[in-house]
Amino acid sequence: MSKRTVTLIEGDGIGPEIAKAVVDIFSAAAVPVTWERAEAGLVSIDKTGSGVPPETLEAIKRNGIALKGPTTTPIGGGHKSVNVTIRKTLELYANVRLAKSIPAVETRFKGVDILVVRENVEDTYAGIEHWQTPNVAQCLKLITRQGSEAVIRYTFEQAKLLGRKRVTCVHKANIHKITDGLFLDVFREVAAEYPDIVSDDIIVDNCCMQLVSRPEQFDVLVLPNLYGDIVSDLCAGIVGGLGVAPGGNIGRSCAVFEAVHGSAPDIAGKNLANPTALLLSAIQMLQYMGLVKHASAIGDALEATLASGTRTRDLGGTASTTEFAAAICAKLSAIDDDGGNAARVATATAESLSSNTEAWTLVGADVFVQHEGGLPPMPETVGPFTLRLMSNRGTKVWPGPTPDILIVDHHRCRYVASTPVTRTDILNLVSEITASGITWCHVELLNQASGEARYSKAQGE
Ligand code: NAI
Repeated sequence: MSKRTVTLIEGDGIGPEIAKAVVDIFSAAAVPVTWERAEAGLVSIDKTGSGVPPETLEAIKRNGIALKGPTTTPIGGGHKSVNVTIRKTLELYANVRLAKSIPAVETRFKGVDILVVRENVEDTYAGIEHWQTPNVAQCLKLITRQGSEAVIRYTFEQAKLLGRKRVTCVHKANIHKITDGLFLDVFREVAAEYPDIVSDDIIVDNCCMQLVSRPEQFDVLVLPNLYGDIVSDLCAGIVGGLGVAPGGNIGRSCAVFEAVHGSAPDIAGKNLANPTALLLSAIQMLQYMGLVKHASAIGDALEATLASGTRTRDLGGTASTTEFAAAICAKLSAIDDDGGNAARVATATAESLSSNTEAWTLVGADVFVQHEGGLPPMPETVGPFTLRLMSNRGTKVWPGPTPDILIVDHHRCRYVASTPVTRTDILNLVSEITASGITWCHVELLNQASGEARYSKAQGE
């Protein structure tokens, strides 16, 4: 069988130790892959000043597949997270984590088998943050129709491939009506194309509560980035913690598999690390590559080893990393190598929902202004605009009685016109506000389509 080249990034801390365990087990199982080593993390920062040198990104693109050990992100110093750089540069838009009970690992719950798919690029992780005033910071939460479709379609394809029965969209659309509302709308549109899979949705807080009381009720979850980040760790905890939590980052043309845990500097170089999570990630990678027989054989040997009581210290055992890996190698059964079966991980499918091209009418602007000490003296009319309301941290403070709330130096002033306006009108509005001595911070346009607002209505509006 021809060998496929896989990029291997050992990473920092315990990375080289657990990567060696996986390489040894793959070799004992005669997995038909050749490793091409590439650097990322502290080693690379020391040598090149960059956590992910261009050669590493090129290698992943060339091979289309990588196994990555954990990398340390230095705190401060402006170093970007290696993981975020890899995910964003290669547009690895789906983070896929399996939270499955391992019979030999004691936890509060039994029979958990949840596939968690997290959108991996957008949301507040677009990393667009600004100070609005010296006291007010803002982070943009970006959810797009195309980005949502990509991850949701991938989730349904994966559910179909694995014969899973139900996909649940996790969101907070009751509060984030526009952003999470878009994610949920796209979910419903895509779900309609998969009538054999039950689809439903749940609000993220309720989902967390249900997960820690009856996790076995869930099958597949799909979530925007931030909720996915949190909920996928919660799911990892439910099945035994980070030591046994695998993950894969899937893009249109490449995929990177990595354990969920970090570089564990406290135990690095001591032969104590548990390689299970990286090995499970490597098994997920083999499934993606269609090498399902090798994946099953290694998975069975891992389970048998854990069941026999051979475990690393974090799981209550005494085995070293190398002893644990050797025990898995010893339990490997012969693999009938008649080629790979069908891949068990869906590859990306092209997005097909049509782009929204509705015509918008500009009707006003929210002008955010900086002002200390109560409400700013805003002009009530400017050209075609009328000041409809002011709010502070989302609570309406004008017109009407000002509620007894904390007023900070960042005010949203909503100006609307009774007839359509132009962007030049908005520029004039901002100029007049500036001429009256008021400091504006930023402006958001108020658009309508089919008579409906394309912005959130203020409380009481
Ligand atoms: P961590 O996951 O490295 O360690 C947390 C605790 O879990 C430590 O006590 C550690 O000894 C233990 N632990 C983790 N993995 C283990 C394993 N395989 N076997 C046995 N024990 C294990 O999290 P921490 O300390 O917050 O982060 C350390 C560094 O790792 C940071 O620089 C962080 O940025 C980075 N990190 C990297 C990730 C990645 O590359 N995917 C993910 C998370 C953190």
